Amino acid sequence: MTINQKQTVRSDALALFGVTGDLAYKMIIPALYALVKRGALTIPVVGVALEKWDLAQLHARVKDSLQQHSGRIDDKKSFHKLLSLLRYVSGDYANPETFTAIKKALGGARRPTHYLAIPPFLFEKVIQGLGAAGLAKDARVVVEKPFGRDLASARELNRVAHSVFPEGAIFRIDHYLGKEAIMNILYFRFANSFLEPIWNRNYISSVQITLAEDFGVKTRGAFYETVGCLRDVIQNHLFQIVALLALEPPTRQDPDAIQTEKVKIFRAIRPLASADLVRGQYTGYQNEPGVAKNSDVETFCALRLFIDSWRWEGVPWYLRSGKKLARSVNEVMVELKPPPQKLFDDSPSVSGQTNYLRFQLAPHSSIGLAARVKQKGKKFIGDQKELFVLEEEPGEQSPYERLLGDAISGDHTLFTREDASEAAWTIVDPVLSKHPRPFLYRRGSWGPKEANALIAKDGGWYNPAVGSIKGG
Ligand code: BG6
Repeated sequence: MTINQKQTVRSDALALFGVTGDLAYKMIIPALYALVKRGALTIPVVGVALEKWDLAQLHARVKDSLQQHSGRIDDKKSFHKLLSLLRYVSGDYANPETFTAIKKALGGARRPTHYLAIPPFLFEKVIQGLGAAGLAKDARVVVEKPFGRDLASARELNRVAHSVFPEGAIFRIDHYLGKEAIMNILYFRFANSFLEPIWNRNYISSVQITLAEDFGVKTRGAFYETVGCLRDVIQNHLFQIVALLALEPPTRQDPDAIQTEKVKIFRAIRPLASADLVRGQYTGYQNEPGVAKNSDVETFCALRLFIDSWRWEGVPWYLRSGKKLARSVNEVMVELKPPPQKLFDDSPSVSGQTNYLRFQLAPHSSIGLAARVKQKGKKFIGDQKELFVLEEEPGEQSPYERLLGDAISGDHTLFTREDASEAAWTIVDPVLSKHPRPFLYRRGSWGPKEANALIAKDGGWYNPAVGSIKGG
């Protein structure tokens, strides 16, 4: 069996908790429409939320969501098909009658998928409500991030989830794992043989991962106040990228074998100490709606990781993410060591321009491999050139479309297992509450200057450009 051929049973209904919320509006409804368009969604979809809406109001919301977030409604037949699949249940999650109404709306469904697109503080309540109403039997539950807010709460959430669902029925979603460019990291590493001999501490000097966003918290200030950058994108999205870049070849081609290798990486990463971390906050963050006037929450985080393994001993991994930075870009830069002999005047050990492998993950996907080539003329001096081995292809599925489709068909490959989630929390746990106040940084910059000290001995931060050119 390959990782693409997991044998599973499809769900026969979808209950979408939080259907009136922001995530459903921006991501999930467009994903449902895309699934209907390719014939991959034919089951009833029961939207659940507190709002006292009727079906007509839900239909209007769906139409609006598609107009705003799918570009336009380009397939009327699929749009009407999606509307025909929808039902709506209004209710408070603390009230058992809500679950009775959901059961009724699910009709004869025997294997529903319950998607919890709701604020994290409601996860446990809804999971328990599903269990008490008999809605968990042969069902699946998809849990949005953040899965817990530290190691202890993640463990508790896992305990509650396991008291109702077996691990095989729990789908912890991290939408980064559904991105084409991120799935390609795993493929690129193990579908090629040229990389493996150099993919270790002997040839790699450091790895940098930047997830920069040029926008702020927008309307999500109140949510962001409960997370901050480290919990919002580093403990999950960036750590998943680290794991895919660092893991050993899985022994088998199945999802569990890959998860097992990821867990080994998370367990080999040294838990963070304050000296490994620089927190920042953009100027004016405290005036954003929903944000406390004296907020200590970081909108920027830079950190240095070490993976204590045979392959990675001594290689620093630098991770950085922030809001209101210079541009929106997500890129991995793997720096190679210079050749041992300084044969030419412009040898990398002199010029500082070593070979590298660069994965741009967003806004474009590309892989660039930098090598030096000689300039014409008598002198042995050259330039750094990039070989492009991949550029994005049009028509990619959105992560939510892919992951929702996978959950409905029971494919766990792109979801996070219990032990992986807990091991990732273990790394950040020591610095979640004990840390100095964040440094202020200018909007439109690359974060606080204090973050430079963290990486000074490895040549400084590399600021990615957008598209097929290297940043600086
Ligand atoms: C989300 C975070 O999980 O990921 C957001 O909550 C962040 O704060 C987003 O902006 C980034 O995801 P993407 O796919 O837009 O890069």
